Amino acid sequence: MVKEKELKRIIELKGKKPISMITAYDAVFSHYACIAGIDLILVGDSVANVMLGYHDTKKISMDEMIHHVEAVTRINPSKPVIADMPIHSYNNPLKALKNAKLFLKARADAVKLEGTKHAKSIKALRNEGIEIMGHIGLTPQSAGKYRVVGKTDKEAKKLIEEALLLDSLEVFSIVLECVPNKVAEEITSIVSVPTIGIGAGPYCDGQVLVVNDLIGLSANEFKPKFVKQYANITPLILKSLMQFNEEVKNKKFPGEEFSYK
Ligand code: KIV
Repeated sequence: MVKEKELKRIIELKGKKPISMITAYDAVFSHYACIAGIDLILVGDSVANVMLGYHDTKKISMDEMIHHVEAVTRINPSKPVIADMPIHSYNNPLKALKNAKLFLKARADAVKLEGTKHAKSIKALRNEGIEIMGHIGLTPQSAGKYRVVGKTDKEAKKLIEEALLLDSLEVFSIVLECVPNKVAEEITSIVSVPTIGIGAGPYCDGQVLVVNDLIGLSANEFKPKFVKQYANITPLILKSLMQFNEEVKNKKFPGEEFSYK
């Protein structure tokens, strides 16, 4: 109930106050996101390539996603948690319902689905009162390669149609990924719900970043243009690990102060 109110508050922010969202894949970042006052927490299927060593998001299973959603919700975060439905988990309405309900059981407040190909699934979930975040533009589950979507008139028109379709299906917000600024601005002006951009410029109603990109915690060198790295914690981690390694090997750690009498 509290979270329902919070989701309603998010929708009401459209055009008034920018909305912030980050990904979180575990209890630690769920906690930090709430302390930082981030509006929405997304358990993105990006956990596949960001944390689990998969090449992309196409291999992750429902069970793996549920494991991460539970890790994020277990600490009772004060902010709404959105569970990303993995590839093939919403191919048809029955499957979508079964899987979305598993995420709700894992205490997610809403689910995110990529694209509009499975509009019937979106409709079925909405009929059951399940809150949905749409996601158009670059949709990694179906994209061949990483690129900006909407540069040509044809692509821009398709994106606008998709956004209007999602709006008519009553999603509570729409992620726009890798979309030219002007197209994102137009979509934002014509849909009734907040748009949340990632690589979609400054005119969206909100912004989302993958938390690992934001803090520089990555085993992978790929850094898209839209990523602003607010910190680089990798050198700090490496320094600590190397120092620990050295102190263990030189028998410097643990000293008296770290031992029991
Ligand atoms: O999986 C994810 O992290 C996402 C964001 C990029 C929006 O879908």
